[in-house]
Amino acid sequence: MRRTIIITGGAGFIGSHVVRLFVEKYPEYRIINLDKLTYAGNLANLKDIENRPNYRFVKADICDFDTLFALMQEEQVNGIIHLAAESHVDRSIKDPFTFALTNVMGTLSLLQAAKLYWECLPEKWEGKRFYHISTDEVYGALELTNLEGGNEPGGGPFGDTFFTEETKYQPHSPYSAAKASSDHFVRAFHDTYGMPTIVTNCSNNYGPYQFPEKLIPLFINNIRNRKPLPVYGKGENVRDWLFVEDHARAIDLIFHKGKIADTYNIGGFNEWKNIDLIKVLIHTVDRLLGRREGEDLNLITYVTDRAGHDLRYAIDSSKLKNELGWEPSLQFEEGIEKTVRWYLDHQEWMDNVTSGDYQKYYEEMYSKR
Ligand code: NAD
Ligand code: DAU
Repeated sequence: MRRTIIITGGAGFIGSHVVRLFVEKYPEYRIINLDKLTYAGNLANLKDIENRPNYRFVKADICDFDTLFALMQEEQVNGIIHLAAESHVDRSIKDPFTFALTNVMGTLSLLQAAKLYWECLPEKWEGKRFYHISTDEVYGALELTNLEGGNEPGGGPFGDTFFTEETKYQPHSPYSAAKASSDHFVRAFHDTYGMPTIVTNCSNNYGPYQFPEKLIPLFINNIRNRKPLPVYGKGENVRDWLFVEDHARAIDLIFHKGKIADTYNIGGFNEWKNIDLIKVLIHTVDRLLGRREGEDLNLITYVTDRAGHDLRYAIDSSKLKNELGWEPSLQFEEGIEKTVRWYLDHQEWMDNVTSGDYQKYYEEMYSKR
């Protein structure tokens, strides 16, 4: 079936990988990247595909119901992949209102616009999909019972428990509370109105084009520039890391083959204690820059812990594997090497982001059209 899909948040980290995958893999589809271009949105992430005939960029806020509704009518949209969000936990601690506004009210505006548009069509929900991208952080935190676990390449369990699709929601940060609320709204639109929705909850992503406020790009850049590496608390918190292109592949598969009203967890069974991961980053950057490996370990600086810092995340993604056959394609060592190389090779991208120059890209590219 020919699809016209709005991808929200397509100028962000994960969204840009999803947009690129869909634009390249489905030339017969029409892909509309709808993004407000907050500090986290960067159209330079999509430079390589911006002139493709099946791609359109629309600068808009997901809270702007009228614009969303008009765009859906104009483009006869039959699919929505919703990634736009405020995504950084530390920012949510300082400014929870913006997180509620974008993540909750923005999601609700998008749901309501799609509902009103699709409901009035003769075929109603048939062939439609509202796919909401969420996070494992809605499940809260797991116990860390095995402090030594997972240090081997490829990771391993730091405890006996994992987040499954049945795990009770227990968000702790304003970010995860807002994402949890948006997940509930999406499911409520299925249960109440019959809207064809899907929700997925993914673990920590890493890879090219991530905004350097997040651990991996921030630390790669700091190691390169020999700046301190602020490790929260004792560095013992555990995260489950997945290469971003594997997440994008999962989104493609689930958008096309996932069961309506269902939920899938996405993760790579790849747990790392922060401090171990940071050491891998230091060794990799040092090696690739021709420095003595480990010479930058002295940049590690323990700082005050993040408020409410979740101890451990670990996703059980076996449902996705068993039902749809998805598996991560990259081993962590390969993924981290690729990622570090990408940031070192794209210093201009990093400099534009850290200086704020990237925000001029939209003006230059789109004001002329
Ligand atoms: P990001 O911060 O890199 O990008 C977010 C994008 O959304 C930006 O382009 C921004 O401009 C846009 N945006 C923000 N507010 C908007 C609004 N009001 N209207 C329109 N656009 C708006 O985020 P990311 O890391 O790519 O995460 C994308 C999605 O995936 C989020 O929903 C996040 O919760 C989820 N997620 C992220 C991870 C991760 O590790 N990064 C893991 C699991 C789930
Ligand atoms: O689990 C999925 C989530 O992963 C996504 O929903 C979020 O959008 C995404 O930002 C990410 O959240 P985290 O809080 O886990 O990611 P972050 O990169 O901010 O931090 C990773 C770990 O590193 C976390 O335990 C906090 C720690 N940290 C982070 C920063 C930025 C530090 O020790 N120092 C730092 O400077």
